[in-house]
Amino acid sequence: MSVPLDHLRNSRGQAASACAARALLSAARTLSRRALLKAAVCAGLALNLTDAVRADDVDVRAMRPEVGDVLVFANEATPRKMIRVPDLPVGGAPVFAWPMDPRTGIVRDGTRLNRLLVLRLDPAKLSAVTRAHAADGVVAYSAVCTHEGCPVTEWLSQQRVLQCPCHGSQYDPADVANVVKGPTLYRLANLPLRKVDGALVVAGKFIGRLGAQGA
Ligand code: FES
Repeated sequence: MSVPLDHLRNSRGQAASACAARALLSAARTLSRRALLKAAVCAGLALNLTDAVRADDVDVRAMRPEVGDVLVFANEATPRKMIRVPDLPVGGAPVFAWPMDPRTGIVRDGTRLNRLLVLRLDPAKLSAVTRAHAADGVVAYSAVCTHEGCPVTEWLSQQRVLQCPCHGSQYDPADVANVVKGPTLYRLANLPLRKVDGALVVAGKFIGRLGAQGA
């Protein structure tokens, strides 16, 4: 039977902490050398387990995109296929993507905050700062609405804006996803890209606030 990792971590950590607390209480009551020794052992165990928990918590799937990650499709039809610039027609609808570590093949899909909207626009129509973070007109933004965190899934092709279906916030992908229409007050976070042999490669950390910010 498999045991959820979080449960295992918590139960181990709680057991060690309880052990240390009980032993310290006993030591305080009796002030005996043996009880103090036991307390020290338990405290050490708790510290070791805390370190182990910290190490376990570094879940690479949930880590933010790293410089050098490549982008892969997040849709059902072509899951984990690397996205290449020619896959994206200029002016076409956005696609969903995940970052992937090319050395390990680990897709960073452990948190929805890493889900990306990727689309290709005419480079001549991008604002200067957007162009600086784009690869051949391809831009990448967080797919999580900054209002209350819904997935941003709609593309209004006439207006060329991204729209959240929950309360209608709109973002301009040609201008660092600045807000065109609220209720949100914050733009989508932008992930800088570059092109390497036709592939889309992460060129920097997210710029801007990630996830729900309220209004
Ligand atoms: S959650 Fe997107 S507009 Fe409210």
